[in-house]
Amino acid sequence: MADLKNNLSLPISLNENEILEFHDPMASINPKHRTLAEMKDYLADAKASFPGESVYDMYRSVHLPQDTEKFKNAGLRFDITVVHPGLLGREFSKTLGHFHPFKPGTAVRYPEIYEVVRGKALFLMQRMDDSFSQVLDCYSVEASEGQDVIFLPGYAHFLINTTDEILITSNWSGDNFESLYEPVARYHGAAYYVFKGTDGQPEFKPNKNYASVPELKKLRPKELSHFGLIFEQPAYLTGQKSPNMLQFLINPDLYLEELTVEKCYSEA
Ligand SMILES: [Fe+2]
Repeated sequence: MADLKNNLSLPISLNENEILEFHDPMASINPKHRTLAEMKDYLADAKASFPGESVYDMYRSVHLPQDTEKFKNAGLRFDITVVHPGLLGREFSKTLGHFHPFKPGTAVRYPEIYEVVRGKALFLMQRMDDSFSQVLDCYSVEASEGQDVIFLPGYAHFLINTTDEILITSNWSGDNFESLYEPVARYHGAAYYVFKGTDGQPEFKPNKNYASVPELKKLRPKELSHFGLIFEQPAYLTGQKSPNMLQFLINPDLYLEELTVEKCYSEA
């Protein structure tokens, strides 16, 4: 059993079966398991196997009972994702990845915040044209425990576990949209596959289902205190104490000057 209270600021632990346990006053949440069968369309090798039944588990709408109304009024949702270690064929274990829809009445897609709760994360982000026919740019971002990463408006995002240990992330997003998976399934994954190299390290291979892919650039996340994203501080606390700081997730069109690669990241 691993206690995640300090990392999450919530009474949650991880049990021996890599399932989250919720302690008083939280009610238990049954995760949605993402099975290998559901991932076939998103893999380099549709026939790949995986050591466990679930590749990753999603716990939606995680919060203390006392915060229910606050998050509902703010239009915010806090989720936790547990990515089990292992290989999907030659690929490291990963999430399907998706785009977010446009905020209605705007040409701006909803952003999202991810925080690494336990382990080490590799994120891929890619932007495409409106018809999803061309990749405009793509980035990889490594993040360690406690670090926060903003997925900027327009960027599909993929979470990859390149380690032998469990990876747990939390995320804040608006609670009023459904993610778009089809544009990723169409190409059987992100613009780059992340294979385990012979030395055990990640190997980035362009996904040939795309007509062309731009060079993959590496970024590091910046600490963004004006959005309440302090690396030493669990992201849950920002939503709990200052939900207004997360309003950029609901109204990204009002924050476009702040929501740029240059302002939210530094070059790795
Ligand atoms: Fe998302």
